[in-house]
Amino acid sequence: MTTEQSAAAHTGTDVVLEARGVTKHFPVRRTGGDVLARRRRTVHAVDDVSLKLRRGTVTALVGESGSGKSTVARLLARLYPLTAGEIQLGGEAVGAGRGRSFRTYVKQVQLIFQDPFASLNPVHTVRYHLTRALKIHGRAGDGDADLQKSLAALLERVQLTPPHQFLDKFPHELSGGQRQRVAIARALGADPQVLLADEPVSMLDVSIRLGVLNLLRDLKERLHLAILYITHDIASARYFADTTLVMYAGRIVEGGDSETVTQHPAHPYTQLLIASAPDPDRVADEEAQEEAGSGEPPSLITPPDGCRFHPRCPKAMERCRTEPPPRFDLADGQWAACWLYDGAEGQEAGK
Ligand SMILES: Nc1ncnc2c1ncn2[C@@H]1O[C@H](COP(=O)(O)OP(=O)(O)OP(=O)(O)O)[C@@H](O)[C@H]1O
Ligand SMILES: [Mg+2]
Repeated sequence: MTTEQSAAAHTGTDVVLEARGVTKHFPVRRTGGDVLARRRRTVHAVDDVSLKLRRGTVTALVGESGSGKSTVARLLARLYPLTAGEIQLGGEAVGAGRGRSFRTYVKQVQLIFQDPFASLNPVHTVRYHLTRALKIHGRAGDGDADLQKSLAALLERVQLTPPHQFLDKFPHELSGGQRQRVAIARALGADPQVLLADEPVSMLDVSIRLGVLNLLRDLKERLHLAILYITHDIASARYFADTTLVMYAGRIVEGGDSETVTQHPAHPYTQLLIASAPDPDRVADEEAQEEAGSGEPPSLITPPDGCRFHPRCPKAMERCRTEPPPRFDLADGQWAACWLYDGAEGQEAGK
């Protein structure tokens, strides 16, 4: 078996990065007011999130604004310390330090941001950005010839060809899609195993989004990367991701293969998301949400007891107000954290 074949054979089964019960609470500082109001309060941005990113697999993390998606990405990138929980890379728990093991971690797990304009330095060329990434990660090779070869290979990998046309361009001389490709090339400069892509296409023109998503899919297939694809747009998750996780108010409420989750959503929140966003059109999305009378997501400073979705849930029962639902396994690997599935249809998965 060639290396490529053996990598392909493991595709979809090897867990590269795992979050176990990951939690992040941000302190909120309030000034003035009485003593009670000045008491330390916290934003429960991410609570008890567990997920697995597998080699050669795209996992979508879907949810509305403020649900905690970017915080999950930043925790997985180790930009923030965890409040609780554990992250494992290649089966080994990672510590909290910033030393050598942190640098090794960052090389393996690269983050791509929503706004490529903000993430690239406007006074530097593409050549500078990519050279720097290669040097930081010890991949610039011996001498100039090696470096030139590596730079060309990175640009070819993100389909910016011929490379010499792009190397000396500044960010403002590129289109949004080309800038995001450069940001992806820079991440690939580390030769990572995991890409965390936080809304990588939401700031791009609709016409070029598909091209960038197809590029990420191509990288998943060729380089067997584990990709976390963060999005508001559940329709794109169906198209692009193998697995879909749905996040609501800091918790993951449903997961499974993308086809099942989008075609047969189990959690009432996923059902609402799909009913209100049949296409990526923002305007339609907002109108549909108003029609559903679905209201606002809850405050994460004082999240609702029980299931956090219960104040908006058309199917809420008494126990939903007080008892947080565990994960219930459904058919075909789908699961939902919803009391509707307690009983005959599902078995409690345990946590
Ligand atoms: N550094 C921080 N300090 C305090 N609160 C924060 C911080 N970062 C995020 N939050 C809060 O945590 C919650 C989750 O934010 P996050 O950015 O993770 O959501 P999101 O799902 O990525 O939203 P969006 O879709 O708008 O990008 C929000 O209530 C946000 O205000
Ligand atoms: Mg975000």
